[in-house]
Amino acid sequence: MCGIVGYCGKEHCANLLIEGLKKLEYRGYDSAGIALEENNKIVVVKAVGQVKNLENLIKKSDKKAVLGIAHTRWATHGKPSLQNSHPHTDCSGDIALVHNGIIENFLELKKELLKRGHKFKSETDTEVIAHLLEEEYKKGKDFFTAFQKVTRKLKGAFAIAALNSKEPGVMVAAKKQSPLVAGITNKGFFLASDIPAFLKHTNKAIFFEDGDTVKITPKSIEIYNADFRKITRKVHTISWDISAAEKGGFKHFMIKEIFDEPQAVKDTLQTLPPDITKAFSLPLKEAKKIEGVYIVACGTAYHAALVARYIIEHFAKIPVEVEMASEFKYRPIHFKKNWLFIAVSQSGETADTLAALKNAKADGLKVLSICNVVGSAIVRESDYSVFTHCGPEISVASTKAFTCQLTVLYALALQLAYVQGAITKAEFEDLYQELLTLPELLKQTLKLENEVKKIAAKVYKSPSFVFIGRNASFPLALEGALKLKEISYEHAEGFAAGEIKHGPIAIIDKDVPVVALAPKSDLYEKMLSSCQEVAARGAKIIIITNTSVKNALDVPYTNEYLFPLVAATVLQFYAYHIANFLGREIDKPRNLAKSVTVE
Ligand code: M6R
Repeated sequence: MCGIVGYCGKEHCANLLIEGLKKLEYRGYDSAGIALEENNKIVVVKAVGQVKNLENLIKKSDKKAVLGIAHTRWATHGKPSLQNSHPHTDCSGDIALVHNGIIENFLELKKELLKRGHKFKSETDTEVIAHLLEEEYKKGKDFFTAFQKVTRKLKGAFAIAALNSKEPGVMVAAKKQSPLVAGITNKGFFLASDIPAFLKHTNKAIFFEDGDTVKITPKSIEIYNADFRKITRKVHTISWDISAAEKGGFKHFMIKEIFDEPQAVKDTLQTLPPDITKAFSLPLKEAKKIEGVYIVACGTAYHAALVARYIIEHFAKIPVEVEMASEFKYRPIHFKKNWLFIAVSQSGETADTLAALKNAKADGLKVLSICNVVGSAIVRESDYSVFTHCGPEISVASTKAFTCQLTVLYALALQLAYVQGAITKAEFEDLYQELLTLPELLKQTLKLENEVKKIAAKVYKSPSFVFIGRNASFPLALEGALKLKEISYEHAEGFAAGEIKHGPIAIIDKDVPVVALAPKSDLYEKMLSSCQEVAARGAKIIIITNTSVKNALDVPYTNEYLFPLVAATVLQFYAYHIANFLGREIDKPRNLAKSVTVE
């Protein structure tokens, strides 16, 4: 989705803003633009396509500006074009602004503005904000007051940053349901949709809340809440390492992030407090009372939730309901008392997950979130939070976040099992010890990359790809298929192995490679039977197991519920190398955005 970067301070900012936009490229975009304020004048430059196209258009003379806003646009209203790209300006060209989100009432606002003589240059919803600001400012208010009034008229989701050449040295901003964070340096302030945009310059960040309006000058930041009351917000120290947001010699962020997994899991495990009864910030009394768990998430996080269902039900013996956040709101669920609601999200900003969480909270459920971004919207709305410590995940296709989400969920399952008396302390300790070996197991698994690459080289031209698994490995099959289709654009599907004979086997033939997830377990023989069924239709079978059989991709041995946490890496390699052989744009796949901040 769109990315915003702003700067107000003492430094020349054109390059800072471009650099910030490049760090937000992972969010997905089709055009980019910048507005710089200099000598009481606003210069707007836009380009379709990549940020580097924009960079080439910025004149040397404009590079001295110390105040500016920049944007990458992911088209919603109107095609990708120069006219539709941000920043948008009012009729006079004095006011420029960038916006992320959707203004739901823009049509009615636009109709009124047109009647009052405003001239529109774009098809976007955003442009109405510039014209509304122009009108409000003309009423004689100062720019910030006018801006606050305008935000009251907007329905929908927005993060906005705006400038006015008539009030040089001031940047104003607002946030409602779209992410916006400020970075604080000793030379000025950044505004951004996400931390990597300014992480090189500062790790001090303020996360704004819905309804906040903000006035920034080179020396000060004033924040007002939804009632326009001046308030202070906590300054967070971000522990991410800057190098984590760089490719570090790898061809793509995705492959780098797969190789980050052992460390990310280690960091995640180390931050879970050793006192198991406090591991999830849930008071012991509450944890004991839990009768069931709802888990809601989207995309890859949803697949982590599906795997967790098997793990929690197996160890803690309590029921788990998993729902896609985007569908959750359409079900008239009567929440069961004493059920815990868990939201899983890498970004902590996914609008669908946030909406589902708010529903559950409104119905009186306690909410626990598992997120990667401290201070994100989902974290702020939750009663309790546990963090994955992946550092920034830049590649649109989620890899290390998935493994870390599963790590936290696995630990949670063990804790619930113990506090609820489903396993003994000794059993808990054995299982937890096994979990603690995961970073090492992942390091071993990374050694399979070349083997997986050779397989990918043989199958990458296939017309379709299938993944099968049973029990906790069934959702992993879904994730394997999602990963592959996201970055290769090829057709891929995941199935419960026992289900293929009920229909999906019709698509199997000699050209369809089938990845079979077959950990050692009571179901191993059944998995082999499923493999026989597809082999009989001529399919090429790629077995991922931990049983040391010949001609299989053999990952280190674990119990079958820990297997998905280890085998995920192999599927990620498989997707990566197929997409790479096909020459796809792996880190920024077509049509996808990293952080989906609209419902
Ligand atoms: O930030 P979130 O974990 O809430 O994001 C959820 C999905 O949008 C995300 O997992 C998406 O499916 C990724 N592209 C997966 O690779």
